[in-house]
Amino acid sequence: MAIQVVILAAGLGTRMRSALPKVLHRLAGKSLIEHVIAQSLAVSDQAPIIIYGHQGQLLRDHLAHLNLIWVEQKEQLGTGHALLKALPTIKDHDDVLVLYGDVPLISSATLKKLISETPKNNLGLVTAFLSNPSGYGRIKRDHNNQVVSIIEDKDTNEDEKEITEINSGIYFVTKQILQRLLPNINNSNEQREYYLTDLITLAKNDNIDINTVTSKHCEEILGVNDRLQLALLERFYQRSQTEKLMSLGVTLYDPTRVDIRGDVRIGEDSIIDVNVIFEGQINIGRNCIIGPNVLLRDTIIGDGCEIKANSVIEGAVIAASCQIGPFARVRPGSVLKQGVHIGNFVEIKNSLVGDASKINHLSYIGDCEMGSQVNIGAGTITCNYDGVNKHKTIIGNGVFIGSDTQLVAPISIGNGAVIGAGSTLTKTVPADALTLTQKLEQRSFLNWKKPMKENVSD
Ligand code: UD1
Ligand code: CA
Repeated sequence: MAIQVVILAAGLGTRMRSALPKVLHRLAGKSLIEHVIAQSLAVSDQAPIIIYGHQGQLLRDHLAHLNLIWVEQKEQLGTGHALLKALPTIKDHDDVLVLYGDVPLISSATLKKLISETPKNNLGLVTAFLSNPSGYGRIKRDHNNQVVSIIEDKDTNEDEKEITEINSGIYFVTKQILQRLLPNINNSNEQREYYLTDLITLAKNDNIDINTVTSKHCEEILGVNDRLQLALLERFYQRSQTEKLMSLGVTLYDPTRVDIRGDVRIGEDSIIDVNVIFEGQINIGRNCIIGPNVLLRDTIIGDGCEIKANSVIEGAVIAASCQIGPFARVRPGSVLKQGVHIGNFVEIKNSLVGDASKINHLSYIGDCEMGSQVNIGAGTITCNYDGVNKHKTIIGNGVFIGSDTQLVAPISIGNGAVIGAGSTLTKTVPADALTLTQKLEQRSFLNWKKPMKENVSD
């Protein structure tokens, strides 16, 4: 039986106090709703239905790259009304999984459990126990421990306020049951809303059993209603990510001072210092050292590399045993082969740097193809841009480039060439020769006098 996921995301999110729709706020670098969609794809291969309303176009633009079914809820009359809007779009024999766009950390494991443990024609519901349940709908059970209803926080009496079992808002039920019961939900409650939670009472009255699944970590069902909750969930998520890394043999000097905003794999015995930020797809080998204040984005790093303090590396592929930084910037399209050294204040962009080549100080290498065992002196610049087009610099194996050299691209330097310091090269450079551009002759003025401060005392 196919599963149709419906994600409710039409609400206003007033408590965020933001021009951005709530579900577009980010947790670990990804919008709340993208987290929910990712989990939903683990349990259903059908495109999820997104119920949207407020700032719908922003939402649709943000998610344009995904295969989604959009259903508009023009007026936000409540969660029951929102799901009702989706009904005509759901296939008659589908099972329906209802998720909330503002509950980002729900795990596919809990969803799978809900789906597998809910008997056919029952209504499945994810609950959790919270020490502070205020704000959430409470689960009411009878003396046989059977769920009989959900009472919204605003509608609770004093006794009901004490109930710690809460409604996550996540349900699993057939379309046929929804078809029968949803139209009967009314809005006679404190908030004048059509509460989806009334489905429970309606189901009970229709002799449908309610089956609950309780999530192991209550954080996974917490909703984001304001920025404080967003920050708390971010911390929880970060802790679960760093614990996973440590369990796989990675040392984190301080797991509270590392941020993981993407998919991060790190090999055993690698060490991560403080204030390291990982973004996107990161793959780091074994025995690496990532120094303090390093930002890594969409990068692959081989075994035994050291990335020293304050380096920023993005879109790069770095082979084993490289040393980078401190204060290095490696930009997208850069490929560093084994044993490369990149030092302080060096920027590399869209360049191949061959085995064991060294660029140790103050240089810009862009759109360059560099061989192995090259030594680039301090202050070397590939002049790759003529104001209109970008051009390539080719540097052969074993080349030595003296300090303060400009390589005006397009240009090619033969294997084993040696370039004198301070040269500005514009033409092809032959292999194995010494090449330098003519400089002003060095002169000294022996009778020259240092300027003196004028006497201004009178
Ligand atoms: C809801 C539940 C509550 C549960 C809590 C869990 C109801 C009536 N209450 O309360 O029992 O404990 O979630 O987080 O269901 N939405 C729409 N259209 C609407 C109204 C809401 O799409 O007309 C969407 C919102 O964008 C949001 C989700 O539904 O993603 C939940 O709505 P929200 O108003 O946040 O419900 P809660 O008060 O948190
Ligand atoms: Ca909510």
